[in-house]
Amino acid sequence: MAPAKKFAMLMMFFALVNTPINAYSTEKDFVRCESTVKKWAASSLDAEVKEDRHTLRDLLFFLHIPRTGGRTYFHCFLKKLYTSHLECPRSYDKLRFDPSKPNCRLMVTHDDYSMVSKLPKERTSVVTILRNPVDRVFSAYEFSVEVAARFLVHPNLTSATKMTGRIRIKNNEVSTLDIWPWKYLVPWMREDLFARRDARKHGEFSAIGESNDSYDMEDIVMPLSEFINDPVAHEIIHNGATLQVAGLTNNSYSPESHEVRHCVRKYQALGEYVLEVAKKRLDNMLYVGLTEDHRESGTMFGNVVGLQVISQLQPLSSNMEQAEKNKSDMSSSFQNHQPDSNYLLNSTNDQKAAENVGTTNENMTVGKLMEAYETCISNLRKAQSRRRSMSLKKISPVNFSKEARLQVPDVVLQQMVSLNNLDVELYKYAQGIFAQQRKRLMQKSVEAERQVSTFSSSYGINLWTVLSLGITVFLLLVLLFFFVNARRRILKVKV
Ligand SMILES: *[C@@H]1O[C@H](CO)[C@@H](O)[C@H](O)[C@H]1NC(C)=O
Ligand SMILES: *[C@@H]1O[C@H](CO)[C@@H](O)[C@H](O)[C@H]1NC(C)=O
Ligand SMILES: *[C@@H]1O[C@H](CO)[C@@H](O)[C@H](O)[C@H]1NC(C)=O
Ligand SMILES: *[C@@H]1O[C@H](CO)[C@@H](O)[C@H](O)[C@H]1NC(C)=O
Ligand SMILES: *[C@@H]1O[C@H](CO)[C@@H](O)[C@H](O)[C@H]1NC(C)=O
Ligand SMILES: *[C@@H]1O[C@H](CO)[C@@H](O)[C@H](O)[C@H]1NC(C)=O
Ligand SMILES: *[C@@H]1O[C@H](CO)[C@@H](O)[C@H](O)[C@H]1NC(C)=O
Repeated sequence: MAPAKKFAMLMMFFALVNTPINAYSTEKDFVRCESTVKKWAASSLDAEVKEDRHTLRDLLFFLHIPRTGGRTYFHCFLKKLYTSHLECPRSYDKLRFDPSKPNCRLMVTHDDYSMVSKLPKERTSVVTILRNPVDRVFSAYEFSVEVAARFLVHPNLTSATKMTGRIRIKNNEVSTLDIWPWKYLVPWMREDLFARRDARKHGEFSAIGESNDSYDMEDIVMPLSEFINDPVAHEIIHNGATLQVAGLTNNSYSPESHEVRHCVRKYQALGEYVLEVAKKRLDNMLYVGLTEDHRESGTMFGNVVGLQVISQLQPLSSNMEQAEKNKSDMSSSFQNHQPDSNYLLNSTNDQKAAENVGTTNENMTVGKLMEAYETCISNLRKAQSRRRSMSLKKISPVNFSKEARLQVPDVVLQQMVSLNNLDVELYKYAQGIFAQQRKRLMQKSVEAERQVSTFSSSYGINLWTVLSLGITVFLLLVLLFFFVNARRRILKVKV
């Protein structure tokens, strides 16, 4: 036999012997993984849908999924309802975790659902907001770049990194760089931006200015298609909403979660178990909002969550007044822990513009809350877009916008959808929950109206009944308007 032929036969022999072994060990690994994931899913689904899930319990946990617009809810609703005395000490990293304030009422963080294990579960209501996954990925990319670009004022990466460290220590603040997932995404993008700038200086890009697509300008910023395929994005961004609601992010408190996540990433089929857990969790939440329907989501938040918070806190308010007068030094120590607010450099000023100074919870009504929300949200948006355009100037001509997104090739969009298959499913599910919430609220206002009309027919109409009738009819019309609109949009948009 010719040596080549002999070699080929030898290879074939090994292949024959090896394949079953490999297949066997792969299968064993799959079986092990499947059992791990199943066990986790079974233990996570302890309770069925809870009867009283629409009633606010003592503690409100806002599970803030990054880039869903949760920040406006925090600043424009929750900050107006809860004084800082009532906020639980937050944890942006594990070292800071401090469950020491047993009577706090509000917890807002980017931590995942595993945080619930640290809270009094039976006394906790959870709320969250979901967003179309493709938009969420776009936004995560843009925001990582935006924050990282602010560092380009520095001559080099070393100086940028050093300076931030100094600022952080000096101000003792929680900055974006302390908050998961930005603490990974921003430094990653920052390093990348500096590397590309250096390469430009050394003339390493030959075709500068050729591309017209802001999401694909590799001489300045990591292109979107590269970003979504990077292992970091796989670890942190894709299916991020599902993993966060399931308690399986890479920031999880639950020790077993890391193996479960690893298995789910390795074997896509196991994602179904995670999705089921996430759906059940949404079912049990007090409120689920949608970023896309932000006006209706806001109205609903006010009428479902806001209303209950107000009636829950009213009995507390005289107590709180006392505490305020007592000037407990606790409060001042929390001023430094505003979540999300210290997005580094000048953000604190913007924040103050958005918040009303000296808001109290006293005599708060849903009407007043909504009014305050509208003003606050518009200020916050202005501040955000100012900061964003200042930051994007540093990487001009890159300019992220809705129009620029239209230039992104279909292949990339399709990839974003398939990389986020669980989130796509969860988002659809959340849309269903949202529609139910809308129905419930409409029913409630119809009932209220019926009560009012019975009342007025038996006692005669007075000013009060006319007024409340007017209000319920108005609320009904508003909801109807949203309902019709949402239907139209659902028909139009299909991701
Ligand atoms: C980075 O910039 C600082 C400040 O201009 C300079 O002192 C330092 O030598 C630079 N470092 C490198 C590695 O170029
Ligand atoms: C570049 O973008 C602008 C607007 O964004 C568009 O009008 C123009 O046709 C584009 N040019 C090319 C070569 O694609
Ligand atoms: C989370 O992901 C980041 C980025 O990939 C990585 O650096 C970090 O080690 C991960 N943490 C855990 C606990 O896996
Ligand atoms: C406020 O202080 C007074 C005495 O200084 C104390 O009796 C009261 O319990 C305190 N109230 C609260 C709510 O802390
Ligand atoms: C911070 O704000 C001041 C004025 O409010 C402005 O002059 C300065 O340029 C800002 N700095 C940065 C880094 O945005
Ligand atoms: C709240 O309402 C009560 C009774 O209506 C009133 O006495 C009190 O002054 C009001 N407080 C504020 C801050 O408006
Ligand atoms: C970026 O685009 C927006 C609108 O899409 C525009 O208002 C803004 O001026 C642009 N910024 C830069 C730096 O080109």
